[in-house]
Amino acid sequence: METMKSARKNHFEAVGSDLSEQIKAATNHNHIRAENTELMLNYQKGQINLQQYKVLLCSLYEIYRALEEEMDRNASHPAVAPIYFPQELARLEALERDLEHFLGSDWRKKVIVPAATLRYQQRLRQVGRENPELLVAHAYTRYLGDLSGGVVLGKITQKSLGLSGTEGLSFFSFPGVSSPNRFKQLYRSRMNGIELTEKQRAEVLEEAVLSFELNIQVFDDLQKMLNVTTESGGRSKRPAAAGLPASPIVQLAVGLCVALSAIGAGIYAM
Ligand code: HEM
Repeated sequence: METMKSARKNHFEAVGSDLSEQIKAATNHNHIRAENTELMLNYQKGQINLQQYKVLLCSLYEIYRALEEEMDRNASHPAVAPIYFPQELARLEALERDLEHFLGSDWRKKVIVPAATLRYQQRLRQVGRENPELLVAHAYTRYLGDLSGGVVLGKITQKSLGLSGTEGLSFFSFPGVSSPNRFKQLYRSRMNGIELTEKQRAEVLEEAVLSFELNIQVFDDLQKMLNVTTESGGRSKRPAAAGLPASPIVQLAVGLCVALSAIGAGIYAM
């Protein structure tokens, strides 16, 4: 895994007029911040356990559910159609398989996410409804990030969790993409072909920065949730947070519920 210093080699190179170059430059600082969140640093060091991975998967599931439903709904929009690659990129079904693997067949009842994930999801829904051209910023942040780090992060996850096969690791696998680098080039050229007014282009760049920040907030919330859980060590006698359907969530982890109520996080149980 490349380090914070090396991840962005072209930081000081001139930025051209292509959207793909501008978006990379605009989010450079936010990318470094994302890489250096406690959760991502631990991840890169191979310090992720099953409990941490499960809550991360839950949040990714909710994020991709919103992103991909909005992409599908806006598939023919002129700013979305060129970067709409459901066969190659869609992550939702892969996440569903992974969640079923780790949480069991009733995984839908156990999905649990912090407030930051709900905020991210709400923003995706709002953009899909009101400004579909901004979806390019969100799709860029998630899909090009996944394609860039996917293989390495998949290996780290496999090793950290002590998994012998690839079951539970569908999220990292892109069977429809034979060469991530070539695909990223194609994706960038499609982005560059999207017709945007100057105002829209500025808004897309701003949205990409927001998209990174929403990811950072999710990682920070998850880390807080996990810290409290670890501190309580699952020994807490407190009941689950008020208003929760008690049993399925409690089955997932009593400690998580305590953590969520402690940090004022939202919860989403299906
Ligand atoms: C474990 C932490 C991370 C590491 C080590 C990492 C590392 C990298 C590396 C090495 C690249 C390729 C850079 C290049 O080709 O110039 C990259 C690209 C990218 N990463 Fe990350 N990354 C991390 C986390 C994230 C996160 C959390 C996001 C967003 C949610 C993200 C979004 C992106 C995007 C959008 C690109 C494509 C950049 C472009 O070519 O325009 N990364 N990352």
